[in-house]
Amino acid sequence: MIQYFKYDEWNIIEENFDPSINKISESIFSIGNGYMGQRANFEEDFSGPSLKGSYIAGIYYPDKTRVGWWKNGYPEYFAKVLNSTNWIGISVKINDVILDLAKCMVKSFKRTLNMKEGYLERSFVACLPNGNEVKVVSKRFISVIRGEIGCIRYSVTPLNFEGEIEFTPYLDGSIVNEDSNYDESFWDEVSKKAELTEGYVMVKTKKLDFYICTYMTYEVTKNNKKITPNIDKYEKSKYISNTLTVDCNKNDEIVIYKYVANTSSRYYETSELVNVTKELSNKAKNDGFDKLFKEQINGWSKKWLESDVVIKGDIAAQQGIRFNIFQLNQTYTGEDATLNIGPKGFTGEKYGGCTYWDTEAYCIPFYLSTASQDVAKNLLIYRYKQLDKAIENAKKLGFNNGAALYPMVTMNGEECHNEWEITFEEIHRNGAIAYAIYNYVNYTGDKSYLEEYGLQVLISIARFWAQRVSFSNAKNKYVILGVTGPNEYENNVNNNWYTNRIATWCLEYAIEVIESVNIADPTKFDYIKEKLSFKDSEIEKWNDIIDNMYYPYNEDLDIFLQQDGYMDKEQVLVKDLDSTNIPLNQNWSWDRILRSCFIKQADVLQGLYFFEKDYDVATIKRNFEFYEPRTIHESSLSPCIHAILASKIGAHDKAYEMYLRTSRLDLDNYNNDTDDGCHITSMAGTWLSIVHGFGGLRVSNDKLILNPFIPTNWNSYSFKIIFRNTLLNISIASDSVRIENLTGTNIHLTVFNKDYTLHGNKTIIIAN
Ligand code: BGC
Repeated sequence: MIQYFKYDEWNIIEENFDPSINKISESIFSIGNGYMGQRANFEEDFSGPSLKGSYIAGIYYPDKTRVGWWKNGYPEYFAKVLNSTNWIGISVKINDVILDLAKCMVKSFKRTLNMKEGYLERSFVACLPNGNEVKVVSKRFISVIRGEIGCIRYSVTPLNFEGEIEFTPYLDGSIVNEDSNYDESFWDEVSKKAELTEGYVMVKTKKLDFYICTYMTYEVTKNNKKITPNIDKYEKSKYISNTLTVDCNKNDEIVIYKYVANTSSRYYETSELVNVTKELSNKAKNDGFDKLFKEQINGWSKKWLESDVVIKGDIAAQQGIRFNIFQLNQTYTGEDATLNIGPKGFTGEKYGGCTYWDTEAYCIPFYLSTASQDVAKNLLIYRYKQLDKAIENAKKLGFNNGAALYPMVTMNGEECHNEWEITFEEIHRNGAIAYAIYNYVNYTGDKSYLEEYGLQVLISIARFWAQRVSFSNAKNKYVILGVTGPNEYENNVNNNWYTNRIATWCLEYAIEVIESVNIADPTKFDYIKEKLSFKDSEIEKWNDIIDNMYYPYNEDLDIFLQQDGYMDKEQVLVKDLDSTNIPLNQNWSWDRILRSCFIKQADVLQGLYFFEKDYDVATIKRNFEFYEPRTIHESSLSPCIHAILASKIGAHDKAYEMYLRTSRLDLDNYNNDTDDGCHITSMAGTWLSIVHGFGGLRVSNDKLILNPFIPTNWNSYSFKIIFRNTLLNISIASDSVRIENLTGTNIHLTVFNKDYTLHGNKTIIIAN
């Protein structure tokens, strides 16, 4: 862990220019709006280490799967999140020398991500090789109000010279993904045009025909007055630019405002794209930077009103949680049920595909509590819409009768992950998708979701489990063989406790929902039955599996066993490992990892978190105390589950340690991989650590339950949640819990096991 950035409540601040961490900073200072995102690359040329990244939601490339040994059932392609047209570029030449920080003496440098208002600012003073010294301040944002618009204000002031400054605002579609094989480009040019003060580039993907049109307009001021310099326009393959030359004296401030619109064929007819994009970009220019910026501040203030967490007395923790909430709100806004939340969001390319079980297991609860109900619902509908593909996927693997196996990684419902031990074996993901339906209905009370969409998904998932189990005569029990649990540091194991547990839970829940939908709306139920050719006799088999599932268990320790044979491994604790071994995945061979007892992420404990209601605190504690010391937390998804369970069992210091680790995972580069992008999906886990962990928030029988505690070094903390259309501000101090109802409706809740009714716009204070 290294502290790179200055602690601040609302900002992430970098104060030194250090090219060796530039890729980490580019990830951290990324901006986005759910529709598109941009790494914190410099506008001007930079020849130092950089991963240039500009991404548009839902645009991907089905790159051919390359493996040495093809296995039947492998997906045809690996979906790459596509790096698209560079729209931020403004090359600068000062008295004929290119401004490139890698070649300058950088006298001061500051990069700030303002999370409150949603913008990125960078300022520096640089001395060029010709001795000219300039001050540069750039500010940019991606509008949260006008989805397709990005704006830049780029200011240059000569400090010790007079002469010519040349600006070249450009659009460059000749972009190659960092993870492309052999530097292959995934884009073809469709058209382009450079005109005076504006221009566009339209490109299309070589496969699937996604079109992206990028249009730029700009204006220039000198000492706050608009000027019209001489302009040269230029075009080359997938590239357009304008070059303008400005004469200036010492201390003149030249500012270029660049307004860019990025549109795609996902939302417009391709024939309309150029006109629409031109209009959007021109409208932004006519409205002007200040107006757009005001909209941005208002837009973010609304988001913070519903999702902020305030921590008093611990600035590192405060900055951590705001950073996580900020990135989540930049990644997914929930208006479009065909989009999802990639593990790297818009901050990098790694992982390919955009939808993992991360969405259902970690992200849904965050959006359920901090946004309108439709946002989480759209994430569920995303899977509903892909049910046919999940059934097809299962069929390819030999399942039948409408059994569905959702893909491990997907863009459009098709599997696009090709490591056999994950693609074929990490089947627990199917359980998380069912669990998310339960979570949504439990939280919102929206049972109609089950009738409309949920039940069909649940039946299809239950059918999968009913076929995936085998009956062991030796054990006289059902078993599940050859799986990978959430702990990916073990593959091809038998009877992973978590997988067996979630499989039977899915069957139980499917039966419960079948019964409830049948009662609530028999006509709808008959329709679903017919549509899925569902037979009542299927339930008999499901019940038999529920009653006779095998769960590995260690009697001596009285714990659930992660899988058959886990105790055969040499039992070593993480604390006894020499730190030079960590992270294991960067220092040990894969074979050594597989043979070790070290656990990548919550596995048995993931199950105890999901199904907490079924276990007493003593059971959770015994399992936690056995597994946590063996867990290396090399998945970003791991510390948060441990923080929640540690809170549950009263291990408050451990909960706090785990919280800091999840909340500052990227800021402090814990896993030494932030240069690839941030861990967006685990950021929801950070929020869960506070709200479900420290706050002890649960929902049961339509009621909100709170059992909060406060970490010892915090003075107080508060979080906002929306529950059944009521916005609450819940503040916890060492001596009291204060709950403020910010809406007009009454709400019933239970705090420390006592029931309360909180009237609209009223506050209650409960002694702690
Ligand atoms: C984790 C998975 C997760 C994936 C994407 C992996 O490292 O082990 O559980 O789905 O990352 O976040």
